[in-house]
Amino acid sequence: MKRRKFIQSASLSGLGVAVGSSLVSGCNDKISQRETVIGASQKENFPIVIATWDVKDAVNKAGEVLMQGKSSIDAVELGCNVEELNANNQTVGLGGLPDRDGNVTLDACMMNKDGNYGAVVCMQNIAEAISVARKVMEDTPHCILAGKGAEKFALSKGFKKQNLLTDASKKAWEQWKIKSKYQPVINIENHDTIGMLAIDKNGDISGGCTTSGLAYKMAGRVGDSPIVGSGLFIDNEVGGATATGLGEEVLKTVGSFLIVELMRQGKTPQQACEEAIKRIVSKPNSNYKHFQVGYVAMNKKGETGYYSIHKGFSASIFKNGKSKNYPSQQFIK
Ligand code: GLY
Repeated sequence: MKRRKFIQSASLSGLGVAVGSSLVSGCNDKISQRETVIGASQKENFPIVIATWDVKDAVNKAGEVLMQGKSSIDAVELGCNVEELNANNQTVGLGGLPDRDGNVTLDACMMNKDGNYGAVVCMQNIAEAISVARKVMEDTPHCILAGKGAEKFALSKGFKKQNLLTDASKKAWEQWKIKSKYQPVINIENHDTIGMLAIDKNGDISGGCTTSGLAYKMAGRVGDSPIVGSGLFIDNEVGGATATGLGEEVLKTVGSFLIVELMRQGKTPQQACEEAIKRIVSKPNSNYKHFQVGYVAMNKKGETGYYSIHKGFSASIFKNGKSKNYPSQQFIK
């Protein structure tokens, strides 16, 4: 069979599979008509929020915003702000653990129901990185602002400048400097990057991801969290996914995009999260026994899934007006 013909027949058989699962994937106008039909009974379950780790206050805030009839993007922003402003959470915003030079640098992004995306990377001195990312998305012609540029933009939008290195984080850094040994810590404090997905009463999905990144990282290091498709991806016709853990591994497998595409092909959020973890652990020479990655996902029906490499990961879910933290299943039993 000639190559061209082979490619045609291969893509046709691929289409057959997708049609069979009633979620047609391909590049034509039909895609925009493909939207998953949301039945009235499903909508009754909305709003729903899911986030990485035990962040009940954050998902409760997002849930409260959604119950007031506000949009999923508002809910995710205000929900993530709760942890960004919590000085006791050393993995995001104020009080985040610094890089090896002692500077707290933040990465964050947001994606909305229209597939728009904004991010800040390596930003200092502004706690609400997720809100600055939203402003980048809504008020600039760009997708990503970095470092000093991001900070300058945030200040121009009225964000408060503050020293993000708290006494506790400074002390932890000084302790680390004694050995200066770089090693990712699995389940650091049982919460890490905050990734959050929400579906509002209209059935529209948005997401956000915010972090101070790996503790004691090299200066200038950017992880997966602010990178579209890696730390976060939303396709409002299909669903959304977000990640936590060792960002380099999520970046190399474009994990959140992968999960959304797997859901597009008919996988449940749970199956899609498990497959994305499998991609990481099955890479040649994967060092997965020594690092953690966790994913959470939600589809257009409001079904959720979560999965990780190691024990200790969990997801917080707000549904039917209540929130609960659920321990995740993991690859290493
Ligand atoms: N997942 C957060 C980071 O690696 O920076």
